[in-house]
Amino acid sequence: MTAGASAALVLAAAALVDPGDEVLIADPSYPCNRQIMESFGARAVLVPTTTAAGRFQLDAASVRSHWTDRTRGVMVATPSNPTGTSVPAGELAAICGTARERGAWCLVDEIYLDLGDHDEHGRPQASVLASDPDAVVVNSFSKYFGMTGWRLGWCVVPETYVPVMERLAQNYFLCASAPAQQAALACFTRESLAVCEARREEFVRRHALAVEGLEGIGLPVPVRPDGAFYVYFDVSGTGLTSWEFCERALREAHVALTPGRDFGVRTADTHVRLSCAAAADELREGIARLGTLVATLG
Ligand SMILES: Cc1ncc(COP(=O)(O)O)c(C=O)c1O
Repeated sequence: MTAGASAALVLAAAALVDPGDEVLIADPSYPCNRQIMESFGARAVLVPTTTAAGRFQLDAASVRSHWTDRTRGVMVATPSNPTGTSVPAGELAAICGTARERGAWCLVDEIYLDLGDHDEHGRPQASVLASDPDAVVVNSFSKYFGMTGWRLGWCVVPETYVPVMERLAQNYFLCASAPAQQAALACFTRESLAVCEARREEFVRRHALAVEGLEGIGLPVPVRPDGAFYVYFDVSGTGLTSWEFCERALREAHVALTPGRDFGVRTADTHVRLSCAAAADELREGIARLGTLVATLG
């Protein structure tokens, strides 16, 4: 147990990398993941994942093509922040297999796993551990269980890493908050799980609302999200960079968005992240205001 996925990521980085090691990570992706690795002296190698066909996600072929003799591991977040897209199970197994063949590790951030869309038979997305028991997995109570401020998460590591992680955890944090752990036990009652499931279903509806709304005002969503609560859309047709677009949206429409610059290099100027954590009515209102802004841009 850790103080959120963030502390699990710190422990994993402390255990897994040495200065000068290279770690492959998707561009765009959650910025703290690469910054935590870099704070331990590793070099985050941003692998372009900007094709709609590749769903803005890593695949085994691009992992292989960016591999060097300094590469020590691969970091995947599925479903992803900022794109809300998942790596298909077979591809994820292939990525982890590629790392394993080379004596490297695969760290999978599954913080949005339970907020992944279910398949046509109603089955939830499976953890990478179903195909690769050696993967290092990070997860948290922050998203599916909505306990962000309680700072509670966890890390699943191969047996050999357990004493290493325990020693590091003891030095960095002593323990994850005991009151938060007691509170989190209440997540696993039938009633709590029903609330969380209803919330996941609401995110599916909000995704549809946001994608249709954005496309309706001329802001394309190149890849439909299948998890988390984000929509990553393209503002290049507006004539503004994503930074300018976000500033104008904030000042003129009073809508808060996150520019692509936060998430990497390749989509830094072209894409913007919208969070569907706001209620459906607020999303509708926000998108209507963005529509007015887009119209004034001509
Ligand atoms: C992909 C990803 N990993 C980790 C985190 C950190 O989560 P936590 O609140 O559990 O530290 C976030 C938070 O937004 C995230 O999006």
